[in-house]
Amino acid sequence: MRKPILAGNWKMNRAPAEAVEFVRALQPKLAPYLAQVETVVCPPFVCLPAVADALAGEKIGVGARIGVGAQNMHWAENGAYTGEVSAAMLKGLAGYVIIGHSERRQYFGETDEGVNKKIVAALAHGLIPIVCVGEDLAQNEAGVTEMFVSGQVRAAFAGISADQARAVVVAYEPIWAIGTGRTATKEVANHVCGAVVRATLAELYGEAVAQAIRIQYGGSANEKNIGELMAMPDIDGALIGGASLKVEAFVEMVRVTAAQL
Ligand code: PGA
Repeated sequence: MRKPILAGNWKMNRAPAEAVEFVRALQPKLAPYLAQVETVVCPPFVCLPAVADALAGEKIGVGARIGVGAQNMHWAENGAYTGEVSAAMLKGLAGYVIIGHSERRQYFGETDEGVNKKIVAALAHGLIPIVCVGEDLAQNEAGVTEMFVSGQVRAAFAGISADQARAVVVAYEPIWAIGTGRTATKEVANHVCGAVVRATLAELYGEAVAQAIRIQYGGSANEKNIGELMAMPDIDGALIGGASLKVEAFVEMVRVTAAQL
């Protein structure tokens, strides 16, 4: 059984004070579900210390704390990389890191090779990578989704051992569904998560490892569609942008996910 994982990608939203206020509002509402649903918030870098601090004050009772993730990192340990943050620097602040989000690939020139280096570095530092893959509209319409996404998965996992691979979370996020209100149908999302992402992982690592790796869907996931998405056999969670910025919507998504277990 794969434990469902819902992660909120806040993108470039919220300063530290607002971030703390938000997670304080989330914590008591999410507490009943955290044992069953791994729940993560990914605020901007500058919020990580304050958010990690606010959540560290929480008692670990039934279940656990809300997890904290970064939205990006650099692969090097340190050095002349102006504006970047390394995995080592995230220690104690984040347990997860989003890697290769399509916005980073599109607007900041991230390549498959860079994504792979970041995954290697994240794993070396004990961070759980949430690795994003997904085709754009033109690729989707050209019918090359399967080939493209499978290629992204292969490139992302290059040189990563089967043991390490088990820890990685893959997020299938069709670019045409991100922030557009146009969600992939549950059938299409499940097909790509299962018959493309998981099948590629099975080719790389064998069926047992592929069955252990969690695969999220992302792209206009919200409190209304999460139930049908999570009911699909190969969808193990969601990477949530817009809806994760609203307490009620995010809590409802976690609640619905827990209720279906
Ligand atoms: P969205 O974003 O939920 O707002 O579509 C998802 C993402 O970019 O991870």
